[in-house]
Amino acid sequence: MEDIRLDSLEGVGPVTARKLTDAGVHNMMDLVVRGPVEISDITGMEKDSTEKLVNKARQYLADGGVLSQDFVSASDIYKRRQEIGKITTGTECLDTLFDGGIETQALTEVYGEFGCGKTQFCHTLCVMVQKSREEGGLGGGVLYMDSENTFRPERIVSIAKANGMDPQRVLDNIVVARAYNSSHQVLILEEAGAIIRESNIKLLVADSAVGLFRSEYLGRGTLSERQQRLNHFVHLLVRIAEAYNCAAVATNQVMSSPDVFFGDPTKPIGGNVVAHTSTYRIYFKKSGKKRIARMVDSPHHPEEEVIFGIGEAGVIDPEDPKAKKARKAKADPAPPTDGPGDATDAGTPDTGN
Ligand SMILES: Nc1ncnc2c1ncn2[C@@H]1O[C@H](COP(=O)(O)OP(=O)(O)OP(=O)(O)O)[C@@H](O)[C@H]1O
Ligand SMILES: [Mg+2]
Repeated sequence: MEDIRLDSLEGVGPVTARKLTDAGVHNMMDLVVRGPVEISDITGMEKDSTEKLVNKARQYLADGGVLSQDFVSASDIYKRRQEIGKITTGTECLDTLFDGGIETQALTEVYGEFGCGKTQFCHTLCVMVQKSREEGGLGGGVLYMDSENTFRPERIVSIAKANGMDPQRVLDNIVVARAYNSSHQVLILEEAGAIIRESNIKLLVADSAVGLFRSEYLGRGTLSERQQRLNHFVHLLVRIAEAYNCAAVATNQVMSSPDVFFGDPTKPIGGNVVAHTSTYRIYFKKSGKKRIARMVDSPHHPEEEVIFGIGEAGVIDPEDPKAKKARKAKADPAPPTDGPGDATDAGTPDTGN
């Protein structure tokens, strides 16, 4: 349905269709995802015409049940939300925080300082999404946008092995797009539709989403342009997640903000643009060897914190304190003592019953 040819739409002749295809707009869904302003920029058509065009495409997809109608009943929204899939994080603690896992049709933003585990978390999800639905995955592939050159197949292999999965097959289901600058990042998303359909992509990772924008637009003078372009990028992410029913995960670094006197003096770089677009925001923090994850912003989760760790298996549950104590005791057995417990036991009076 979403693959219907563009030139079957009224108002699109062969020349326009060609311009659209050259710009990566191959079908109705691409038209809707990119929107009228961008389509006008690409084709040179008047914005009035592109608005009509995009509306027609949207109507077409809505009639076919691919997209929701403009006016829908709450029960229709409920039905669409029933289609939301969840990807387990592979840990009990983070699954609790996410109420079951990372959702499709939503953008989940993970932010925190360097080394807090954002990339490890993304790597873990790359493996988990490939598990079957019964095992907490979605049986789908991954599109991993790597803008910091930190994607490591070796980590995927060790996480897959720890989960008893075939590492080669897991690697084969991950498409990695190395992004070299922020415009390239946008371009990758604009072209993503075809890959998402062909490769049954269920997870879209942008690690990091904001880093390149930050380094390219330095100084106050460029701030509004940066926010505008970042806004465009993040909105594309959200629209793709909604249109293709896949989960989008974006990472974001923090900067220290001297105007905060109480609490944690760090905030995500993207500022408000990212904050208002992402559906879920998680803050990762280092605390000694442990890591803390806090749900910061969510339409329906309480704001809570959990402790997790990082190991060969990716993100992991913290060790149960009892198990840790037992392991320590085994490694270093303490000499037996005549504890007061024994004495008390011996002295327990016989009630005579
Ligand atoms: N195999 C492993 N076993 C245990 N811990 C590991 C392993 N691999 C990585 N780590 C831990 O993960 C940390 C790095 O985490 P990660 O790369 O996810 O950080 P990040 O939040 O993405 O940082 P940045 O902002 O720099 O991208 C390292 O400090 C290390 O402690
Ligand atoms: Mg990283």
